[in-house]
Amino acid sequence: MTAPIEQSVDEIERLVEIAEHLRDGDFAVDIPAPKSADKRIHKLAASLRELAASLARWQREIETLHRITTRINAGLMLDEILEGVYNDFREVIPYERIGFALLEDGGKVLRARWARTSLPTVHLQRGYAAPMAGSSLETILKTGQPRIINDLVQYLRRKPESESTRLIVNEGIRSSLTCPLIANGVPVGFIFFSSAKTNTYTDEHVERYMQIAEQLSVIVEKGNLVSQLAAQKELLEKQNAELRRLSALKNNLLGMVAHDLRNPVAIIQMMTAILRNPQLQRPSEERQRMLDDIYRQTEHILAMLNDLLDLSQIESGTVTISPEPVAIKSLLEETVYRHQLLANPKQTRIELNIPTDGVVYADPLRLRQVLDNLISNAIKFSPPGSTITISVERDEQWWKFAVTDQGPGISPAERNRLFEAFSRLSARPTGGEKSTGLGLAIARKVVQAHGGIIDVSSTPGQGATFWFTLPALSQEGA
Ligand SMILES: Nc1ncnc2c1ncn2[C@@H]1O[C@H](COP(=O)(O)OP(=O)(O)OP(=O)(O)O)[C@@H](O)[C@H]1O
Ligand SMILES: [Mg+2]
Repeated sequence: MTAPIEQSVDEIERLVEIAEHLRDGDFAVDIPAPKSADKRIHKLAASLRELAASLARWQREIETLHRITTRINAGLMLDEILEGVYNDFREVIPYERIGFALLEDGGKVLRARWARTSLPTVHLQRGYAAPMAGSSLETILKTGQPRIINDLVQYLRRKPESESTRLIVNEGIRSSLTCPLIANGVPVGFIFFSSAKTNTYTDEHVERYMQIAEQLSVIVEKGNLVSQLAAQKELLEKQNAELRRLSALKNNLLGMVAHDLRNPVAIIQMMTAILRNPQLQRPSEERQRMLDDIYRQTEHILAMLNDLLDLSQIESGTVTISPEPVAIKSLLEETVYRHQLLANPKQTRIELNIPTDGVVYADPLRLRQVLDNLISNAIKFSPPGSTITISVERDEQWWKFAVTDQGPGISPAERNRLFEAFSRLSARPTGGEKSTGLGLAIARKVVQAHGGIIDVSSTPGQGATFWFTLPALSQEGA
């Protein structure tokens, strides 16, 4: 049997060994109960055991925090990062709700950027903004120290002017831990942990937060920058697409001026050259024919220039429409009468299928322009001897106007381009009429300006029905 003193020495040596294990980071070391009768040795062993347990817990916590921040850091956009925080932080801090607010406007305004809750109602919404000056949050940023409020109802009684507190209390939140986000010494915003129970937060939670405060702040700041860059990139891409569209429009315009205007101008120039040359005297009927031709050519040029001007004004938004009650029947009868004159040479019949009374709220000049184009298209692209039907029906708040023809129809492939400017598609005029490809582009803009829609339904080879909607009631009155 070993002497008590020797046994104590052995046990002390064993405890020293254990302390060395702890020093080297081995917190799982086994610490057996001493057999010695010496109380001091027992006390020493107990202290070592406690130390080992808290070191192990501390290490687990650090590892967890590190794992969380690594995982969160993998997110690129702010929303991804915040989602990661919401999912992972529960392991170290309790909450029913997490909110993020970021400073804007050089730190003057705080805006709620993101919130996620397991509670059924959300009152403090994304986008909510409040000035920083004079708010209690200012102190948190200045000191860099998180703040615990463990009874929000009571807090609100003392500070009834705190609107944001009222909002989260109404959501069912009872205690909160507000932590500053300070990246590289610069205040970025706040993260709010909130719980539906009172007295949820302790200094231990503050300590855990402080261990990763800097890292988290930098990650959030990075996400915020990346998100801002992405938004800017999207905006630039949109602007680029619009520029490309305008540039294509401009090229089309140049092409059209070259083709469509040069011809009539050349004809006019040639005829006037003949007419003004005293050596080329012509009989008076021939002179008259030439003058008529010149007149027709100028009419065509003028119509084309008017359309172009119209389109560019509508595009740039400088044209305003003035809707007023328009009687449908008389407008359509007058329009059809004008078109019937053009349709007669082709033996095209125009039939009207419209209500005897009915009022549409539209700009009468613009409405006439849309109808003129649809009816003239129907005449222009249909074979001679066909029938065109115009019908108008009411559907609750809208009137639906439709022009149906027996022409070639529209193929699905061409449908998308139909309403673009300068789109002359495979259907060509059947009676030598002019075609610039502007009419439907203008019609679409006009109908849209009234709040309506325009479209076509067609089975290729079996004609087409172009239709559009316009309001049946005054928009103010509605
Ligand atoms: N009813 C229709 N049936 C078949 N194709 C059509 C019909 N209406 C239009 N299209 C096709 O769509 C193209 C565009 O029509 P749009 O009215 O915009 O121009 P356009 O009639 O050629 O010229 P503009 O109207 O400027 O005088 C036409 O060139 C034609 O190819
Ligand atoms: Mg047309």
